Amino acid sequence: MKITFAEKAPKNSLFVAGIYEDASFGNVTKALDKLANGSIKVAVGNADFKGKAERFLRIPSSNGCGGQLMLAGMGDAKKHTPLALEKIGAKLFACLNGLREKKAVIDLSDIPGIKEHTAEKLVAYAASGALIRSWTFDKYKTKREKDEIPVLDELVFITTSAKKSQEVFDKLAAIAKGNHLTRLVVSEPPNVIYPESMAKYAKELSKIGVKVDVLGEKEMTKLGFGALLGVGQGSIRESQLVVMKWMGGKKSEKPIAVVGKGVTFDTGGINIKPSNGMEDMKYDMAGSGVVLGLMKSLAMRKAKVNVVGVMALAENMPSGSAQRPSDVVTSLSGQTIEILNTDAEGRLVLADALWYTQDKFKPQYMIDLATLTGAITVALGYEYAGLFSNDDKLCDMLTAAGSAVGEPLWRLPMGKAYDKDINSDVADVKNVGSGRGAGSITAAHFLERFVNKTPWAHLDIAGMAWDKADKPLTGKGATGYGVRLLNEFLTKNFEA
Ligand code: BES
Ligand code: MN
Ligand code: ZN
Repeated sequence: MKITFAEKAPKNSLFVAGIYEDASFGNVTKALDKLANGSIKVAVGNADFKGKAERFLRIPSSNGCGGQLMLAGMGDAKKHTPLALEKIGAKLFACLNGLREKKAVIDLSDIPGIKEHTAEKLVAYAASGALIRSWTFDKYKTKREKDEIPVLDELVFITTSAKKSQEVFDKLAAIAKGNHLTRLVVSEPPNVIYPESMAKYAKELSKIGVKVDVLGEKEMTKLGFGALLGVGQGSIRESQLVVMKWMGGKKSEKPIAVVGKGVTFDTGGINIKPSNGMEDMKYDMAGSGVVLGLMKSLAMRKAKVNVVGVMALAENMPSGSAQRPSDVVTSLSGQTIEILNTDAEGRLVLADALWYTQDKFKPQYMIDLATLTGAITVALGYEYAGLFSNDDKLCDMLTAAGSAVGEPLWRLPMGKAYDKDINSDVADVKNVGSGRGAGSITAAHFLERFVNKTPWAHLDIAGMAWDKADKPLTGKGATGYGVRLLNEFLTKNFEA
């Protein structure tokens, strides 16, 4: 998809005019109407179009405009935020694509801008929304009818300064590309995405300046990754720990660490899951997918920050070599874990990855992302990811970043009474609570036992990584939830 910015509209393309839902609405349409010989007034009246955000009106063959015309509802300009513009851009993309347009020129040159959100910046966000939405996963569809193949491949945004909009857009495009990479690996089937192929995706990033190290089973056995290796021991796929480094900040500054659950398929293991819906467990590596996408966007936009990204990769399979309920493993931390349910595997791969990361990189903050519990969707549905933390300031920073980009977080409680629930009778800790509810919280407590004093946050994204309904920015399927959130968190707090 080609996106450019210009100050004057090129001719001979579909012309999209931004229309604002306030006093200027009448004036704008009047001016356009004059150009289009009165056809707009009739069309707007018939469709009852008032410029509401994310509403569009296609006006066929309006002679006088140099061709085809469409009105794009921009909503109330006084309420314009970057996120609002991204959503408009995304919906516009979907609409144009549905109409099978090839190219469009979108005139937002009269967008007013508000406070720190300049007109040129808001236009860049509209373009970013279109770019985010433009990603599709159709590589395995070999037999589509011609009229099912999307054709829209070029957008030109008209703005008061093409240079200023382009500058903002370059950063946003890097974030969008990260989001696309996450959605790709999350969408790929588990016969294509497994620990070693995820590691390969990471190694690709070394071309753009990310330093990548991979530990295989041999190295992890030597180091003592008993918890992570136990999860992968029933699979023919080799478990991997991937460390990616982007050191764009000051040499003296301790890194921010981001750790992702990467269970490339979660059958449940010997505690096997029911068949209904098991296919969803291809996205049980979404936490790692976010770490991968984040590292890509940091490198692409040359972020001035030090970030270590870690992917904890294993496949959870039942087999003759799989771990059993009641097995006891020794984690990298030295703590022993009684495995009471082989389906509570995410916390096991993270236990070793978190311990390794804090010990080796001494991060100033450590954040993990994981499709950790089904219980989080019982608590929060598909609207918020769960946030758990030992640090109030970190929670505030993450929550603010999440609401700015529309990837919201809701903090849930932690405390001694919950923590007691994972004490084991035979080992230091057991991998499931005693079945007294609060499954997402006891899971977070399990992770906390492998964190020590590092300021840490855990994002349970089980309800957010995949959407069965249509999201404005990302449509159906993999959302890439977390990439934009963490970019915002890093930019706002560490790159100033
Ligand atoms: N990967 C699942 C959690 C999950 C559920 C992610 C739905 C995405 C959508 C996780 O490994 C799991 O199986 N959790 C168990 C924990 C239980 C055994 C304590 C669960 O949620 O049932
Ligand atoms: Mn599981
Ligand atoms: Zn899982």
